[in-house]
Amino acid sequence: MKNKFPMNRREFLYTTGALTAAFSPFPRLLAESTPSTARPLDATTLAKFVDTLPIPEVLKPKDFRPSPQDPSVKVPYYHVAMHPAEAKLHRDLKPTRFWGFNSALPGPTIEAGSGQGAIVEWANELPSSHMFSVDNNLEGAEADKPSVRAVVHLHGARVPAESDGYPEHWFVPGKSSVCFYPNNQDAATLWYHDHAMGINRLNVYAGLFGLFLIRDTVEDGLGLPSGKFEIPLVLCDRLFDQDGQFIYPVSPDPKKLWVPEVFGDAVLVNGKISPYCEVEPRPYRLRILNASNGRFFHLAFSNQLEFQQIGSDQGLLAAPVTMKMLTLAPGERADVIVDFSRYSGEKIELKSDHLTPLQFRVAAIPYAIATRAIPKTLRTIVRTTESEASKTRELLLEETVDAADNPTLMLLNRTRWMAPVTEKPTLGSTEIWSLVNGTEDSHPIHLHLVRFQVLDRQNFYVMNYLRKRELKFTGPPVPPEANEMGWKDTVRAEPGMVTRIIVRFDGYVGRYVWHCHILEHEDNEMMRPFDVIAAR
Ligand code: C2O
Ligand code: CU
Ligand code: CU
Repeated sequence: MKNKFPMNRREFLYTTGALTAAFSPFPRLLAESTPSTARPLDATTLAKFVDTLPIPEVLKPKDFRPSPQDPSVKVPYYHVAMHPAEAKLHRDLKPTRFWGFNSALPGPTIEAGSGQGAIVEWANELPSSHMFSVDNNLEGAEADKPSVRAVVHLHGARVPAESDGYPEHWFVPGKSSVCFYPNNQDAATLWYHDHAMGINRLNVYAGLFGLFLIRDTVEDGLGLPSGKFEIPLVLCDRLFDQDGQFIYPVSPDPKKLWVPEVFGDAVLVNGKISPYCEVEPRPYRLRILNASNGRFFHLAFSNQLEFQQIGSDQGLLAAPVTMKMLTLAPGERADVIVDFSRYSGEKIELKSDHLTPLQFRVAAIPYAIATRAIPKTLRTIVRTTESEASKTRELLLEETVDAADNPTLMLLNRTRWMAPVTEKPTLGSTEIWSLVNGTEDSHPIHLHLVRFQVLDRQNFYVMNYLRKRELKFTGPPVPPEANEMGWKDTVRAEPGMVTRIIVRFDGYVGRYVWHCHILEHEDNEMMRPFDVIAAR
């Protein structure tokens, strides 16, 4: 499995230029805030590693308020406003307009202790017209809906349904929404982002995302690099025009603006294009998030430096996994230890395919800095056995294409968003979800509320399935990669394969969603509600 799908199909086509005749990423620019004369910038011409890597600010509570769960306990209360702002994302670019939480890109980092609840009031202080062109053909984004709407989801959090940021629970500028996050879960790298129905891809592209870290005593006991030796890396790709403004591409058809994927030639790390980061010759902990709309990262160091992955989406792995290349699909996170001890005075790039998101500059200190070794075991992770599952669901991932083979619609189980809810797991029950990928692309499938384990992946006879809905495997089951053996909330469903996950529906009853985390897919029907129902 390793590196078997280094790029997604269309990303490959874009990169090689095979699609440019049929589909230019810059056909037209309609956004109000982008002058129609704007010309795309070839971001590969920008000088690399000229800005220092910023670290998002850790947010301080505004106040302490009674917990909705137990009013005798006071929990931190945060106020975060979505606001238009501008910032220099590169030394040689003019300031870029974006929408950020507390006017920052990424937004401030929120930290919480496991089991320590937090209240966040998310305020929509965005302008009344959108930065980008809204496609009114998409479900939930019809012309009668306000063009600027937002709702915040805390990705990876086990939260009551009313605080989960349901896509239809958007609110308009001038309004806010108060969410309660119980944080009753293991230490993990979570992130918050907009989730508004039909425009989620535009709002996130505009800049509406940030980190939310949960910490616990298991993690604290490991003596991992901390403080300035723990560095968050929020990665996302963007397209720019020559004025330094974001371009969100639209299709050449003025009646259907939606495009199936967006790939930028600039990678922002914590809000700067290909910055550099000064480090000491010692181990660092990197908390990496792929916040891109559609790009898969394949991260490796220029000197082939080995690193250890210690955590995935939902927290620590059972033991560190030594690797040289890390694949991170949109929405996925990785917790990584990299040891610069032997590289005093060197410059090491963090690469992804043909891109160079970041450079580390190791200080020239001619002696090793004494540090604690990374423990050989990190956390006990009990594998869920298949016999615990009371139900197996076969769920088809499918896309429909037009005569020119351009995708027009992405579906889960041949069902649109508005169709009645079909997935109704019982609270506390365990299910196996078989994600049958009948497309030619990898789709990162994410379930809200829960954490799950990956069972395996297996090739199947796609045409046979699409015609008769009958699974015929054409190869043996492939176990998950070593770094996928922990708790996950987003899994790559690889093309032509059945990816099986095992999920315990713990937490709360109510309505949640599951979807592809390629945001263009999610906005065009690759998202479905599910109901967790009470056991009786
Ligand atoms: Cu990160 Cu439903 O999303
Ligand atoms: Cu989520
Ligand atoms: Cu998808």
